[in-house]
Amino acid sequence: MSKILIKNIRTLVQVDNGERLKVSGLDMKKLPCLHNAWLAIENDKIVSYGTMDDWGGITDWSNLTVIDATNKIVMPCYCDSHTHIVYAGSREGEFVDRINGLTYEQIFERGGGILNSAKKLSDATEEELIESALKRLNEIMMMGTGTVEIKSGYGLSEDSELKMLRVIKKLKTLSPLTIKATFLGAHAVPTEYKNRKTDYIKLLINEIMPAIAEEQLADYCDVFCEQNYFTKEETIEILTAAKNHGMTPKVHAEQLSNSGGVLAGIEVGAISVDHLEFVGDIEITALKNSKTMPTILPGAAFFLGLPLPPARKMMDAGLAIAVASDYNPGSSPSGNINFMLSLCCIQYKMTPEEAINAATINSAYAMDVSKTHGSIAIGKQANVFITQEIPGYEYIPYAFASNLIDTVIINGQITHTI
Ligand code: NIG
Ligand code: FE
Repeated sequence: MSKILIKNIRTLVQVDNGERLKVSGLDMKKLPCLHNAWLAIENDKIVSYGTMDDWGGITDWSNLTVIDATNKIVMPCYCDSHTHIVYAGSREGEFVDRINGLTYEQIFERGGGILNSAKKLSDATEEELIESALKRLNEIMMMGTGTVEIKSGYGLSEDSELKMLRVIKKLKTLSPLTIKATFLGAHAVPTEYKNRKTDYIKLLINEIMPAIAEEQLADYCDVFCEQNYFTKEETIEILTAAKNHGMTPKVHAEQLSNSGGVLAGIEVGAISVDHLEFVGDIEITALKNSKTMPTILPGAAFFLGLPLPPARKMMDAGLAIAVASDYNPGSSPSGNINFMLSLCCIQYKMTPEEAINAATINSAYAMDVSKTHGSIAIGKQANVFITQEIPGYEYIPYAFASNLIDTVIINGQITHTI
C-alpha cells in the first residue's frame, strides 16, 4: 500500500465532506479551507485530513512518505472541462494574420481555422496524435490539472473523427489524468459538404454516431452552435440523436454571436454550455431553471479579443460558473488554468474564491465527476497539488503567468516535482 502524508500545510484549500456537487451564486464566494493542516493519502484516495494540533485521523505511521509543506498551499487538482488537445500542427500563421487585421471569421471563410486543423489532422497518424497529445497532457498536469475533457472535431469525416476518438480512448489508458471524451463532429461543415450541410448532419447522425456507440468512444457530444456553423435547430437535432446513442450533450454557445446555443443546450439537458460571450438576460433566466453548468473560457476570449461574458452578472443572479481552458490551436493555445484564474479575477471581476470554485468543483460538475474529484474530501481521488512557498491562494491568480506549482500528486502518485 502506498501512503503519503503532507504536513505543515499553510492552507489546505477546498475541503468539504464530498456532498457538494457544485456551488452557485453567493456560495461561490466561499472557499472552505483549513490552516496549518495535514492531508493523508492511501493508494489513490484521500483518506483523512486535519489541523496540525490534531492527528486523530492517522493511526498507522508505517511506510509513510512524508512531505513537508511549510509555507505552501495544497489544492485539489484543477478540472479542465473543455479542451481540444488532440490536434496536428499549430496555427501561429493565423495568429499573425489576425494581428495584421483579419478576423477569426474571415480566416474560417477562406478555408482556415477549424478547416485548417482538419486538413492537418487527416494527414496525421494515430501514433503522431497520441505522442503530441501526451506532451500536452503532461504539460497541463505539471500546471495542476488532474481531470480533462478532450473533444474530437478536427476530423470532420467518419475516418478522421473516429481516429480522434480512438486516440482519446488510448490516452485514457496512457495518461494518469482522468479523461472524458467528447464527439464534436459538428464543429464545422467540412469543405466537401459546403452547401450540403443536411447531408453532413445525416452522416454525423446515421453513420458516425452508431460507430461511436458501438466502440463506446465518447461520453459527450458537442455542437458549435454559431452563424456559419450550426443553427439552434440543427444543434437540437444533433444532440437529441447523440442522447439516443448514449452521449450527454454539451454546447459551444454564444461565442461569436447570440445564436441560441444556450437555449438549445437547456432544451436537450446539456451538462454544460460553454463560451457565453453573447449571453443575455433570456439565457440567464433559462439557466437558472436548469441543471446545465455555464462555463466560461477566458483563454479564447483573451486570445481572440472577444467581448467578455457577463460572469459577474450571472453569479449575482445566483448561477454557478465553471471555467475551463479551451486548449486548442486556433483560439486558446494554452491549457494553463492558473492563468485562466488570473483572467477570471482581473478581467471578469471574480474573486479568487469564485475563480477557484469555478476551476475545481464546478468544472468537475461539468464533466460529471464532482462526486469523486474537484475538492479535498475523504474518499475522493487523490489528485492534489502543492505550491511553492506563497502567502495564500490569492497569490496564484495575482502572480499571473508564473508557475507556482511545486509538486503534483495524481491518483496518489507523486508525478512531478520541480
Ligand atoms: O472553442 N469555437 C469553436 N471551437 C474552438 C476553436 C477551434 C479552433 O479555432 O480550432 C473554440 O474556440
Ligand atoms: Fe472549444
